[in-house]
Amino acid sequence: MTSDQRPIGVFDSGIGGLSVLQALKKELPNERFVYLADNAHAPYGEKNETFISERTHAITDYLLTQHHIKALVVACNTATAAAIHELRARYLALPMVGLEPALKPALALSHTRRIGVMATRGTVNSEKFARLLASVQTEAHFEVQACNGLALAIEQSTLPAQAAAAQVQISHLLQTYTQALGRFGKAPGQMDTLVLGCTHYVFVEKDLRQLLGPDVQLISTGEPVARQTHRLLAAAELLNHETTDGAAQPMRLLTTGDLQGLQAAAQRWLDLPANCCEAVPASLQAE
Ligand code: DGL
Repeated sequence: MTSDQRPIGVFDSGIGGLSVLQALKKELPNERFVYLADNAHAPYGEKNETFISERTHAITDYLLTQHHIKALVVACNTATAAAIHELRARYLALPMVGLEPALKPALALSHTRRIGVMATRGTVNSEKFARLLASVQTEAHFEVQACNGLALAIEQSTLPAQAAAAQVQISHLLQTYTQALGRFGKAPGQMDTLVLGCTHYVFVEKDLRQLLGPDVQLISTGEPVARQTHRLLAAAELLNHETTDGAAQPMRLLTTGDLQGLQAAAQRWLDLPANCCEAVPASLQAE
């Protein structure tokens, strides 16, 4: 049996994709990962598609040439919506998995047939999302909310100096956006399901649960994406079968921005030591 020890590349505009990395690590314990957080350019959700597309190309080139990745997970709904079609066309030989808001899985779970969707402005306004929504709209009622500022506040919540103010902002934004979506609950006419269409939002699930109560199902995409990555690697015979006798595979987390923020997030959410994190070379940081 062949064994491919090259790492899998994972990237996001910032720390949101760590929620996907968490699921990947669990699903593929033999694999090495290199995660790139483009913190210096976050949030993507309020930038234009050309900018996001340029960043995704630069990051993919960097991960391929400097880290020799064998597959790529675009752990960002916004970057997937803006650029995955171009990435797939350009890197034909690179297995790639993107993310999209989990509208279809939500359909399978909702009893009231009323579903809320929270995502970035970039995702909500994209053609890809419009097509996805059109494909399910006859089966349930979807309320969609673009959540400006929320991913940024979640980024800031990892920086010690900004954490307290960011938490206040997160509570305020969650209240505003869930109210704008409408009534949640399991009674007829209420939304019983909420799709978290941005990888950052997984890290405020607890706050959302407090606001919406226990009857509302919160849906994210980390686990299905991890399973899809597993299937893709298996089909391409790219899995690493070498075991490490229970020791964790090395994990490298890179940032174009504040190293402390990434370290704090990695520690808090993935239980990883600070020395897994490093800054990327200046060439990738530049505009
Ligand atoms: N985490 C990203 C997503 O899933 C984008 C957040 C942002 O940078 O705006 O959409």
